Amino acid sequence: MELFVLALLVNFFSGSLYSCYGEDIKNVSYKLPTVGISVLVRNKAHTLPYFLTCIRDLDYPKNRLYLWIHSDFNEDKSIEVIEKWADKYASLYNGVHITTNSSSGRLHKDEKSSIHWSPEHFKHVIRLRENALEFARKMWADYLLMIDADVFLTNPSTLKELVSKGLPIAAPMLVSDGLYSNFWCGMTDNYYYKRTDDYKPIQRMEKQGCFEVPMVHTAVLVDLRSRASDHLTYNPEKIRYYDGPQDDIIAFAVNAKNHDITLFVCNDDLYGFAPVPLEDNHDPKSDFEQLLNIKTEAIGRGSPLPLDEHLQDYVKYPDLWKFGCSEIYMINLERRNERRELMELSFKELGMDVKHFMAVDGRNLDMNNLKDLSITLMPNYEDPYHKRPMKAGEVGCFLSHYYIWEEIVEKRHAITLVLEDDIHFVPYFRNRFMRLMREISTLDWDLVYIGRKILLDDEEQYATQHTTRPLYSYWTLGYLLSERGARKLLAARPLDRMLPVDEFLPIMFDQHPNATWKAHFQTRNIEAYSAAPLLVHPTHYTGQEGYISDTEDSDLVTDAPHHYKNELSFFELFHCKCHESNEYYVSEKVYRRAFSSGAYEDLVWEVAASVRESYAELRDSCAALQCAADALGDALPRPAAPCDEQRRALQACYAAHELQPLKCHHLVKEFMRCARRHALHSHS
Ligand SMILES: *[C@@H]1O[C@H](CO)[C@@H](O)[C@H](O)[C@H]1NC(C)=O
Ligand SMILES: *[C@@H]1O[C@H](CO)[C@@H](O)[C@H](O)[C@H]1NC(C)=O
Ligand SMILES: *[C@@H]1O[C@H](CO)[C@@H](O)[C@H](O)[C@H]1NC(C)=O
Repeated sequence: MELFVLALLVNFFSGSLYSCYGEDIKNVSYKLPTVGISVLVRNKAHTLPYFLTCIRDLDYPKNRLYLWIHSDFNEDKSIEVIEKWADKYASLYNGVHITTNSSSGRLHKDEKSSIHWSPEHFKHVIRLRENALEFARKMWADYLLMIDADVFLTNPSTLKELVSKGLPIAAPMLVSDGLYSNFWCGMTDNYYYKRTDDYKPIQRMEKQGCFEVPMVHTAVLVDLRSRASDHLTYNPEKIRYYDGPQDDIIAFAVNAKNHDITLFVCNDDLYGFAPVPLEDNHDPKSDFEQLLNIKTEAIGRGSPLPLDEHLQDYVKYPDLWKFGCSEIYMINLERRNERRELMELSFKELGMDVKHFMAVDGRNLDMNNLKDLSITLMPNYEDPYHKRPMKAGEVGCFLSHYYIWEEIVEKRHAITLVLEDDIHFVPYFRNRFMRLMREISTLDWDLVYIGRKILLDDEEQYATQHTTRPLYSYWTLGYLLSERGARKLLAARPLDRMLPVDEFLPIMFDQHPNATWKAHFQTRNIEAYSAAPLLVHPTHYTGQEGYISDTEDSDLVTDAPHHYKNELSFFELFHCKCHESNEYYVSEKVYRRAFSSGAYEDLVWEVAASVRESYAELRDSCAALQCAADALGDALPRPAAPCDEQRRALQACYAAHELQPLKCHHLVKEFMRCARRHALHSHS
């Protein structure tokens, strides 16, 4: 009997429970914790429709959620939008508590404008945040999500995922313009923002997970179940020995730290977006431009901001126009509907009047009977990196561009913008594009790239403040073409010796490195320029999850052995930790595939290209190449000492040509060849 009691006790303390029948009691299923969502709203009529739609879409039982919304000091329809939304959806929630004050005026007494963070404004916000926190405690909420009304949680599982992490305070990392986000990695002694080396890898999602940081703000989930959480406050006056600024978020973070409550930012998923906050001296109207930037960013990432049908009336779009061009074309494959829809969303947001041009689908081309289309491929054409012949998709792509050039000449379009359908517009696109149009009006131009893959950035010469003379580059994401330019391209008769369109253009402006190909085109007098910086980027980078390339995926004209390329996964490549330590890693899968195909040189370039894309800066390409070469080198069985000489030569070359790592290509090959020889040797 005593033994039995003891056994029960032991079981009790070891945490697992047993029933009288000796069976495990398992699978008790619990309801999700209760969460309060608190929002302060001021002049957010433009962001609220999206914000509230994202809240509506959260994949969390609404009867476990309550909303606390306060709005005052407005000069727009914020209150109306909130009320409209609440009319439709409030009844689904455990509770929706809205307080508004329309008689509070538009500005605090000491405010210069509605975005000026005056002492009175701070005091007011601190008081309201404290009210929200008190309310949550009184409601016995398990969690409180303190969120700003211009945060767009496009990922519906954000709340569920954050709650499941069991962290005391957690913020979903929000994507914004450039380097801005809702966390800090460092704080100065006087409590201000400090840039540290940890920041960028987290913000760019090169390192993923939940990270302990000194500050999170804008969207913050607080676990109110711990005793320590009772100490949390936004009010500097409640914090003992506090000598920091009268600022709600700084007070909150500093006080949390004083009570050993840790703040985390999580970037293990793409959770959502938030605009960069305006500075005191900005025009409050630029808030609209910031929202537009975020909307185009979200579209470019394939997750446009959702919009509830009942709130559509509160969203205004600009009038459509042609941006000073005679015509704007978008080339789109009929079967790529989802891309067209995303592009059309971008056009609607930007006010771009675009003509849809149905692309020639490589899949429908009979590659054995190109003669019927009067096409002859360039003899012996090989892709310089992959050493493979031209693909059906590339032929289709060429024809699509070609037919547009014909239409330009036929319709005598003076200036035409040609866009592909997998592009992402940079922030402030409209202003930047119109600035480009003004600058090129002083130039004698045929072709102006607005998106391409730059290969030799540092050697390109500026022509005007925002244009360069492009050197050899890839891609045809977007370009302006003059009527004269179109005539020149057609006059070269490229269908008689076709090669990919992004090889053809550099030949025509006489910057192609391959003399054999160039010799096929006698007149190479296209006056080419490029926007600098570029105005469109690809939506997905090669190898990234979700990447589909119409030209890369289609069947080879003749079968080539190296099919591994498209299977390289973005995440595998990301383990290549170039700048943090000397630890390199390429997954076994990738390595084995390379090993069995014997295509190391290609693989190095593949990895290097992808890593470099991920840095999105050619400046880092040296590190990227080195990373890739080393990654593969280290993936080979050790010891690799016999190849040290080649490795040293390669490294010396990188050091000497830091900005032009392509010059070391031959040494990469030698190094890889040696490594492979050695690997084969040690395997046998
Ligand atoms: C508990 O749930 C899991 C997953 O739903 C299931 O696989 C398992 O068989 C369940 N165990 C019991 C004892 O019911
Ligand atoms: C609304 O704002 C005015 C001016 O700031 C203030 O006097 C009044 O007390 C507020 N009303 C409520 C209900 O808070
Ligand atoms: C140019 O391309 C041809 C055909 O693919 C190839 O044989 C030749 O080696 C290339 N020349 C250079 C200098 O890369």
